[in-house]
Amino acid sequence: MKQRSKIAYTLSVIATAAAMGMAAGCGERSSGVVLRLAHTLDTSHPVHAAIEHMAGELEKASSGQMRIKIYSGGQLGSERETIELLQLGAIDMVKTSTAPLEGFIPGMAVFGIPYVFRDEEHFWNSLEGEIGKSLLELGVDKKLRGLCYYDAGSRSFYTKDRPIHSPADLKGLKIRVQNSRTSIRMIDAMGGSATPLSFGELYTALDQGVVDGAENNPPSLLTSRHYEVCKFYSLDEHTRVPDVALVSTETWDRLTEEQRGWLQAAADASVEFQRDLWKRKTQETLDTLVESGVEIIRPDKRPFQEAVKDLHQSFHGTDAGRWMQAVLKEN
Ligand code: GCU
Repeated sequence: MKQRSKIAYTLSVIATAAAMGMAAGCGERSSGVVLRLAHTLDTSHPVHAAIEHMAGELEKASSGQMRIKIYSGGQLGSERETIELLQLGAIDMVKTSTAPLEGFIPGMAVFGIPYVFRDEEHFWNSLEGEIGKSLLELGVDKKLRGLCYYDAGSRSFYTKDRPIHSPADLKGLKIRVQNSRTSIRMIDAMGGSATPLSFGELYTALDQGVVDGAENNPPSLLTSRHYEVCKFYSLDEHTRVPDVALVSTETWDRLTEEQRGWLQAAADASVEFQRDLWKRKTQETLDTLVESGVEIIRPDKRPFQEAVKDLHQSFHGTDAGRWMQAVLKEN
């Protein structure tokens, strides 16, 4: 579908849902605030569970005055499209990976730079400190206000026909990447051929051989069912790209001080819930993948890190490069 007709279609879906909601909701429900949130993940994904948790907390704190209507699984389009819908005022909230956000907020590209975080602790220290907080506020002049980060673990390669033991194995392979220039540059630096596609298009693209592989965290490999097609999962853990919940500044400005407090508290509670769930799910998922016939490879990470050294250098003097320097100084 062309971009314009896709947006028109999406707006009609939202309008129909809103009309049905009104018809069904005569009485006290229709008088409250309903925040429409879009994301692209399956409802079995731990990040969807976190969003449901946030919705539950918000409803409780506001005694039913505030609710979140979740449009999951890419119903309203790709992450990039839903960010645009947020800016247009068609929806109120989006859960997206930070990768497509870098097209709107250049500093977000820092998360796409491979091997910038030493480990999980370094990653969370950066997110919970000044760096993470500032990045959440960077998009406010573009109508994008960050509420919180969700754990999306680390991303690694999965492929159909050839296991990846070192960057040399990527040569000649078309690897799907997120809609982000940094991801494209990473694959190029490692010797593969980057193909940007939306998450929703990926299963078919893998199945039909449009691409030879992709990269993601374990729960996303499982819940997207890409493992049905890709039987090699190589844990090189090149990036830690978090998920983020955003609210449009227009919606935020319309809320009262008290309502904003409820929403932020619900988001914060969902982060705590999700980080715990994520840890358990990641281990469980790896076991399930093995049971489903996926070969897990644990390659030496050094050749991958070596391959992206020049890429790191090339960020000097850019927005993302400045954030990278800040991250590297963080404990
Ligand atoms: C992760 C992330 C999603 C994103 C997906 C992707 O699963 O949580 O938000 O859409 O990666 O690779 O596109």
